[in-house]
Amino acid sequence: MNVFDSERISDSLSNIGIRKVRKPEWSDLIILNTCHIREKAAEKVYSELGRFKKIKKENPEIKIGVIGCVAQAEGQEIIRRAEIVDMVLGPQVYHRLPKIIKRIQEGERIVDTDFPIEDKFEKLVQSNNAKRPPVSFLTVQEGCDKFCSFCVVPYTRGVEVSRSPEVLIKESQILVASGVRELTLLGQNVNAYQARSETGDNFDLAILIKEICLIKDLKRLRFVTSHPKDMTDNLIQLFAEEKKLMPYLHLPVQSGSDKVLKDMNRGHTVRTYIDIIEKLRKIRPDIAISSDFIVGFPGETEEDFSLTLDLCDKIRYAQAYSFKYSPRVGTPAYERTNLPEEVKVSRLARLQKKINLHQTQFQMNLIETIQEILIEKRGKFSNQYIGRSPYMNPVVITSAKDMIGKIIKVRIRNSNGLSLSGEAVT
Ligand code: 5AD
Ligand code: SF4
Repeated sequence: MNVFDSERISDSLSNIGIRKVRKPEWSDLIILNTCHIREKAAEKVYSELGRFKKIKKENPEIKIGVIGCVAQAEGQEIIRRAEIVDMVLGPQVYHRLPKIIKRIQEGERIVDTDFPIEDKFEKLVQSNNAKRPPVSFLTVQEGCDKFCSFCVVPYTRGVEVSRSPEVLIKESQILVASGVRELTLLGQNVNAYQARSETGDNFDLAILIKEICLIKDLKRLRFVTSHPKDMTDNLIQLFAEEKKLMPYLHLPVQSGSDKVLKDMNRGHTVRTYIDIIEKLRKIRPDIAISSDFIVGFPGETEEDFSLTLDLCDKIRYAQAYSFKYSPRVGTPAYERTNLPEEVKVSRLARLQKKINLHQTQFQMNLIETIQEILIEKRGKFSNQYIGRSPYMNPVVITSAKDMIGKIIKVRIRNSNGLSLSGEAVT
């Protein structure tokens, strides 16, 4: 979501004559977009600002802004701790940037962490004549009302808000007309999408997907991130019916222990999670499932953790992200006893070993199969191109012709752990 926000900001600023440069040293304005989800991500902000301090020393005219969730959470504190910072903006006010940039150029220092009701993206004008890469994100929903006891998102991104279906369909059309072939619909709780159209029709995510898939030159669609609680049967059924919907679902479970899930306030059990996966596999046996895990949550025993490993063995994820629990100020879990670091480190290593094993097996199963690959970009070497399988695996091919934006049939030959390689079949 931060990548998408940054792209829209840069797109919109280019409309007022602000051009991107490749190095911070060459710029007049540095905007640092920030993530607050774990302590490590938040700490990076201050180390980056340390780097910018040297740049500002060389060029005192340069303006520096911190935006995103760290800006939302820390507000004024950033200006206090880092005197080089000229503006601090939360994620909901990016559309105010052009005016704010003007004010900081005149010497003001600004902190804006409002939650206004308007849709910032409608005001962050999307240029409709730019040529775009074949894959793109589109934010359809923001915020979260789930209040998992470890998570800052409901506080930094606010409550669940869904964008207007008409606007989203129009934005999708613009993206496709400018070269996009695969769209990933984004939201912290994307499958909680609920909005009313101007004509009074209720849209959920399944209806929105069907409408967007009607755009002829759009070839592929994905959505991320879903919550098990909002995984409706209609949405599940789409994986059987909608050919453009790719067989890949990121469905975070966080833990394989019902006790831990309850302490996390996740609102689902291991059984209800497995039921969803079983329904999906029944109608789409090849679907690739991915997840997020937190290890070392307060109160997690060795037995709870072993249930997480058991769940992994049962689901056999195509890929997954895993994190050590990171206590975040202001969340309910912050008050609970943090487990020793060495316990978290050891559990994370054991979980990641299992996840990697399953990921490798998933990739090995694709060897010698023919897959449709959407080519996204050039690789490091000449004539090398990189695309993705329907299951999200990066695939490397060689071709003398420019293949970007094309979907080609590839016989998968090798797996090197991170990516696959193969050759185009005619
Ligand atoms: N500590 C560790 N991981 C976290 N996540 C969210 N909050 C925390 C935290 N406090 C993880 C969850 C979530 C992903 C985006 O980040 O697994 O799904
Ligand atoms: Fe955070 Fe996701 Fe839970 Fe919402 S559902 S509180 S974003 S972990």
